[in-house]
Amino acid sequence: MTDPQIVLTERVQQALARAFGPEHADADPLIRPSQFADFQANVAMSLAKRLRRSPREVAEAIRAELSDFPGTIEVSGPGFLNITLADSFIESEARGMLADPRLGVGTITPSQTVVIDYSAPNAAKEMHVGHLRTTIVGDSLARLHEHLGNTVIRQNHLGDWGTPFGMLIEHLLDIGEQAAVAQLEAGQGTEFYQAARSKFDSDEDFKTRARTRVSTLQSGDPDTLRLWHVFMDATVRFFNKVYDLLGVTLTDTDIAGESMYNPMLQKTCDDLEASGTAEMSEGALCVFPPGFTGSDDKPLPLIIRKSDGGYGYATTDLAAIRYRVHDLKADRILYVVGNEQALHFQMVFAAARLAGWLPDTVDAEHVRIGMMLGKDGRRFKTRSGESVKLMDLLQEAVDRAARLIEDRGYDEALKREIAHAVGMAAVKYADLSVSHDSEYVFDLDRMVATTGNTGPYMQYATARIRSIFRKAGIEPGEANAPIVLAAPAERALGLHLLGFGELVTQVTAASEPHRLCAFLFQTASLLSTFYEECPVVKEGVDPETRDQRLALCALTLRVLETGLDLLGVPVPERM
Ligand code: ARG
Repeated sequence: MTDPQIVLTERVQQALARAFGPEHADADPLIRPSQFADFQANVAMSLAKRLRRSPREVAEAIRAELSDFPGTIEVSGPGFLNITLADSFIESEARGMLADPRLGVGTITPSQTVVIDYSAPNAAKEMHVGHLRTTIVGDSLARLHEHLGNTVIRQNHLGDWGTPFGMLIEHLLDIGEQAAVAQLEAGQGTEFYQAARSKFDSDEDFKTRARTRVSTLQSGDPDTLRLWHVFMDATVRFFNKVYDLLGVTLTDTDIAGESMYNPMLQKTCDDLEASGTAEMSEGALCVFPPGFTGSDDKPLPLIIRKSDGGYGYATTDLAAIRYRVHDLKADRILYVVGNEQALHFQMVFAAARLAGWLPDTVDAEHVRIGMMLGKDGRRFKTRSGESVKLMDLLQEAVDRAARLIEDRGYDEALKREIAHAVGMAAVKYADLSVSHDSEYVFDLDRMVATTGNTGPYMQYATARIRSIFRKAGIEPGEANAPIVLAAPAERALGLHLLGFGELVTQVTAASEPHRLCAFLFQTASLLSTFYEECPVVKEGVDPETRDQRLALCALTLRVLETGLDLLGVPVPERM
């Protein structure tokens, strides 16, 4: 159950060592899928130069060492090795994969503790579309790491602290707790914020109250803290509605918002100052991590205590790193956050390394999330220029999905269930199928399409297989005939599926869910060719062939469903 490309790489490396000496045992054989064979190895060309021999001669020498290889190897052109695997080899690997509950996906040993900082909406405003991608991509990374046996600690770094809370709490008092809670729970956080803001800007008395409230909050006044909790609890209840709808694995225990670090900030600054990592500059306490300069070539400061004594976003992140390394025992920390914060994280990581809080044994990585654009190529906004509400957008995706299946004869409950699954798949898959750091255009029409690299297309592929099994009258789990890959479409599908395990490992290591999407999309495309060329439960198909094909269908279904689950994309049984 190993990726043929990996098996081949090892085999060719052994052949290189035998033919040319052990110093060549770790040369990259440069094996790529090929249109002339299953794979092509180009190592002979690069090696020939170093050995001062002709590439063809080198290729022949490698071939001679691969005589026991399960397949055929031809030397072609100037010295390419064209490698075709024996059908029996692919078949037995595919059978092994079908019998393996993990589908050839390995586990990471020793397992790592991976802290994943994702979603992280700001409570002072409503959760908007910008947080959709950080939530969806982060959740997929969490699922992937867990699947490989790592210990995942989710950290939802909510924006739940800071000066805006003075006016938010005063506004809450003005309109009454009950009304405020109702509004926040209903996802009207933006309106709530705007109402508070406009009073703050126009009403001197309110402004004074808001300012006083900030200091009572900072000083830990119990009454004020209670009000803050009222505000936050209602806000989090709304966030949870969004998470539930999306099928995101975040729970309340994963909340580790900015407020959590508040008690640590003074010590953070004191320790940085005492160790000489931070210094006073123009009244502010700053770290100057080496290698960061501004446009004037002056060292760029990371401000950790402003001249008015206030702490900032960077202070909190430094406290958070320390906590994650020291208390959570992270081996790796992933920050799934917008591209625009790249410099912030580079500087925070550099400062933490300087302070000795982020040892070289711990990886810290900013998984940069690209901006979501509107069809006009600008930041995604409503026509009136406001940021689009996440809930409205998700609801619209579900509505469109409902239209897709309107004419099926399903009852209302089933229709609702399918529409929900299809709508969420559309939005989530669109987010995951482009590389996380590139911008992409939010286009619901394209997302809900059942053709192309979309969530609904992937769901459709699985539903098709399930319908074959319904016709056959057996469960996919019962298909256990040997896999035989007689037809070209069967062979291509079988060969492709063998790459699943290695791909999942690579996708996880590199934080690149879009490559899993690409793999699944190719699976679905190969399935559709198979479906056209190789009837399974049709009149005239002999029972043996039928069972063999059902086994291949079962394997394909499991790869698709496992892959989609790792992406967090729901899979309805029918569509
Ligand atoms: N709340 C922040 C925002 O919406 C994201 C926080 C990301 N995590 C972190 N540790 N800074 O921009």
